[in-house]
Amino acid sequence: MSKIAVVYYSYTNNTKKIAEMIQSKTGAEVFQIETVTPYTGSYDEVVNQAQKEINSGFKPPIQSLKMQLDQYDTVILGTPVWWYTMAPAVFTFLSEADLSGKKIIPFATNAGWLGHTFKDIKKLCPDSEVVSGMNIEFSKEILKTSIKAIESWIVG
Ligand SMILES: Cc1cc2nc3c(=O)[nH]c(=O)nc-3n(C[C@H](O)[C@H](O)[C@H](O)COP(=O)(O)O)c2cc1C
Repeated sequence: MSKIAVVYYSYTNNTKKIAEMIQSKTGAEVFQIETVTPYTGSYDEVVNQAQKEINSGFKPPIQSLKMQLDQYDTVILGTPVWWYTMAPAVFTFLSEADLSGKKIIPFATNAGWLGHTFKDIKKLCPDSEVVSGMNIEFSKEILKTSIKAIESWIVG
């Protein structure tokens, strides 16, 4: 049987909520990516900092995950959309982790502008089987995508 891990980054906890939903439906183990240096300042300041990081391809150092990646053959990967792509911390994770030969099931939470998030994840994981991603929309912290759609994606 395939062993599944959920690996996600979340800044304002929307992505975390979905990761926990997946955990409660599947029993999968869940691991949160965290930056070594937390983002601080107002929301707008973080939005501006993120833009600079993404434009320059900056990979913020992340804390090491307490997981043995080689024990899993499927990784459900969650990220918020930041400036039309994955959050920089997820960029760091995908650049450092060896996910070759694994199946990656991406999901992205966002406010309606998914951009090229899934394409970018695929590009970073040329030796993985990256299946099509689940786009989950929030308006601030209110879930807009139907729970039914999310649940059927989880069990499907
Ligand atoms: C730095 C930053 C950039 C964002 N850029 C986008 C974007 O390009 N498109 C979009 O739809 N939402 C964007 N958002 C909104 C988040 O994607 C959305 O609120 C997401 O659900 C947050 O997930 P989290 O609570 O797990 O951090 C951005 C938010 C932040 C903080």
